[in-house]
Amino acid sequence: MPTVELRYPFMQVADCSLNRFSVDAERVVRENSTESEMMRNIKPLLEKLLMSNGVPADAFKPRQDRFAMNLLHMPKDRVFSVIGGVWRPGQTTPIHDHLTWALIGMYEGEEREAIYRRLDDRSDPKRARLEKVSEKVNGKGHVTVLGQAGIHKVDNVSDKIAKSIHVYGIDIGNTERHSYDPVTGEIGAFLSGYCNVLRDTDPF
Ligand SMILES: [Fe+2]
Repeated sequence: MPTVELRYPFMQVADCSLNRFSVDAERVVRENSTESEMMRNIKPLLEKLLMSNGVPADAFKPRQDRFAMNLLHMPKDRVFSVIGGVWRPGQTTPIHDHLTWALIGMYEGEEREAIYRRLDDRSDPKRARLEKVSEKVNGKGHVTVLGQAGIHKVDNVSDKIAKSIHVYGIDIGNTERHSYDPVTGEIGAFLSGYCNVLRDTDPF
């Protein structure tokens, strides 16, 4: 088999591109059966992507009214999805879950992330008891890994835009999931949609 030489530096950058990441991540999803295997094997691929300049600017098109979720890649069988997340200064999510495994990687700027766990037995569909287990500010290259039970809140407390790449084990924008009131524990339902795909004009 002939050796392929990289003649130009940009080809090495292209090797770290979003397209390459999506192909490699999809292979991991299809070749592994457990969420821990998928998360463990996708994490280094995502870390490599975060340190490249291989994500097009359109992936991070922001919104004025709330943080944006732009769909970047999803196969036809919707077995996983890759998202460009954008937080303008001051924008925030509710406390929420994903109902699947998730990786959240910082591409540019900083995001403050609080991670929670449920203390109740999940028998009440309308109310949860949450405990905040950590809160920190994540910078470029950081990857948060959350299993199916993961609950978190993300906001941008900096004065610069924050851009991140997210990978989920489902069609995240079209899956109804849960928000959690931090005071009462009341559980709400929401559909995030994709800012670059759906009409998605309703407030979050
Ligand atoms: Fe999230």
